[in-house]
Amino acid sequence: MSPRILVLPGSNRAGSFNVQLAAAASVELAQQGADVTRISLVDYPLPLVDEDLKNETGIPENAMKLGRLIAAQDGVFLCCPEYNSSIPPLLKNMIDWVSLISRDGDRPLKPWAGRYVALGSASNGKLGGIRGLYHVRSVMANVGTQIITEQCAVSGAADAFEADGRLKDERTNGMLVNTCKSLIRHCAMMTAS
Ligand SMILES: Cc1cc2nc3c(=O)[nH]c(=O)nc-3n(C[C@H](O)[C@H](O)[C@H](O)COP(=O)(O)O)c2cc1C
Repeated sequence: MSPRILVLPGSNRAGSFNVQLAAAASVELAQQGADVTRISLVDYPLPLVDEDLKNETGIPENAMKLGRLIAAQDGVFLCCPEYNSSIPPLLKNMIDWVSLISRDGDRPLKPWAGRYVALGSASNGKLGGIRGLYHVRSVMANVGTQIITEQCAVSGAADAFEADGRLKDERTNGMLVNTCKSLIRHCAMMTAS
């Protein structure tokens, strides 16, 4: 069975480099045999994470929808902008809301637990957002995912993509190919066991 992989960019910006990276990652994952679902957080607006709100009205429905979707995958590919060397609030807020889910009705549900996660980043700077991934890695380990070692940072992102969405630079594209390969390999090991 093909590993199910969710590709999720952590930016809603028009013309986002991380949305472009998510598109390139989706194509690569599909070419390598994954069953890919790509989403946009535009379709899942969430309030700022708030324990009082959670206690009064429960987990927001969009966080539950994301939680169910994540739980239905073998792996997740996160494309993460770097804000001040760290994780951007849109992404952190989504991760935090989903981490607060423990049940779906009568059923226990911990969406992040055991998911394999691969990380990518894109920035117009020289480092391609790689410093932020250190923080994303730490957060994702804390919520119980298995982070794979390989990652892909796209520098000079404004000029990094061909018109058809492929990465221009061979070395950077190699990072993407290897990251996708490793994610699929880990997911396949999980489905086989
Ligand atoms: C608050 C803020 C902080 C930022 N800090 C960094 C940074 O530390 N390193 C970096 O390379 N880019 C930084 N940027 C620039 C982002 O990388 C840039 O806006 C990028 O396009 C965001 O990703 P996106 O294109 O997917 O929206 C920052 C942008 C904002 C708004």
